[in-house]
Amino acid sequence: MRLAVLKERRPAETRVAATPETVKKFIALGLTVAVEAGAGLSAGIPDAEYTAAGAEIAPDTAAALQGAAIVLKVRAPLAAGEGETDELSLIPRGALLLGQLQATPEMAAAFAKAGIDAGAMELLPRITRAQSMDILSSQANLAGYRAVIEAAAAFDRGFPMLMTAAGTIPAANVFVMGAGVAGLQAIATARRLGGRVSATDVRPAAKEEIKSLGASFVGYEDEESKAAQTAGGYAKQLSANFYARQAEVVATHIAKQDIVITTALVQGRKAPTLVTAEMVRSMKPGSVIVDIASDAGGNVALTKPGETVTTENGVTILGHSNWPGRIPAAASALYARNLLTFLTTFWDKEAKAPKLPESDEIVKGVLLTRGGAVIHPSLAPAQAA
Ligand code: NAI
Repeated sequence: MRLAVLKERRPAETRVAATPETVKKFIALGLTVAVEAGAGLSAGIPDAEYTAAGAEIAPDTAAALQGAAIVLKVRAPLAAGEGETDELSLIPRGALLLGQLQATPEMAAAFAKAGIDAGAMELLPRITRAQSMDILSSQANLAGYRAVIEAAAAFDRGFPMLMTAAGTIPAANVFVMGAGVAGLQAIATARRLGGRVSATDVRPAAKEEIKSLGASFVGYEDEESKAAQTAGGYAKQLSANFYARQAEVVATHIAKQDIVITTALVQGRKAPTLVTAEMVRSMKPGSVIVDIASDAGGNVALTKPGETVTTENGVTILGHSNWPGRIPAAASALYARNLLTFLTTFWDKEAKAPKLPESDEIVKGVLLTRGGAVIHPSLAPAQAA
């Protein structure tokens, strides 16, 4: 059975879905592996390293996909009209496609029509058994780290308190908004750099996590926020009244910050605006805001997704797209291991092929299409329409 690893072609995508380490393990499972030429280059992996791991280097997408039964991607394959290569049309019928597909109902319908069994890894349930396959966690963790490193580089002072013979430089005040996976890593990284760190979140569980990392909690809490967490662990959309109260608390705090890192997401919706233009105007010149939520529209009113903005009062807002892609070697290594763990968990050793029982919670969460039909509950109604 053949497994194909494609080169990513979507804008700002630097990662790759398999590394030489995972290629070796796939071969040990009994697969043959084809890697499209140049697939790992932007993540620092030359073709020769894949060859040394036992993969065949395919000159182009079509050659890589020929006869493939499993296709690994970071982002959804390009469809007709999306780029020079119509990757989707080249994937063989019956193949299993795994990636961060972020599929719309139309995309899912196209996968079904093409006879592709598509697994959207971002839909993995947040359960203990699935932790090592959890691409959202592995990538958010690195995004949180990278955000702080880039904030430090853009900041024209230092993070730690520096006591020198020429005088003392105070520690930077760092405020992390949203203490999920990315936010907690941002807190830990900013603390290691010597910043004075505070953080906020709406989920009650996050408060203790913030404190356990040595940061102080700043936030508004009421009866509504006590129930702000869904059964899946995500934050709920809260009322306009709650957001207004939260903004009041945040506004006075933000004015005193040097660095603000925003990571807040509400599943399936545009990111909530937590930092208004007025709050940005209250900050000192030289302050830096990093908006990790930029791909979801951003948490900061003045964020321009994909761009760096310097405001009239001298605040820099980093709104880069694809934060994990800014640390591509590490992000690819973790992403590739997530996919490897998924496949080895659902592997039939006798048949040397994937075995995806629909009764399994993880498979149910991930599989969008199977046997030419859209089967995921969140996408199936559109197919009926
Ligand atoms: P996320 O990326 O969806 O959101 C980031 C953070 O923003 C969350 O902590 C959320 O509560 C917060 N947020 C949303 N609206 C906000 C607002 N108005 N103000 C301040 N903060 C706001 O979340 P992520 O990082 O994916 O984590 C979600 C949950 O899943 C967490 O409880 C985490 O511990 C849990 N988790 C569980 C795993 C497992 O058991 N396998 C693996 C990874 C995460």
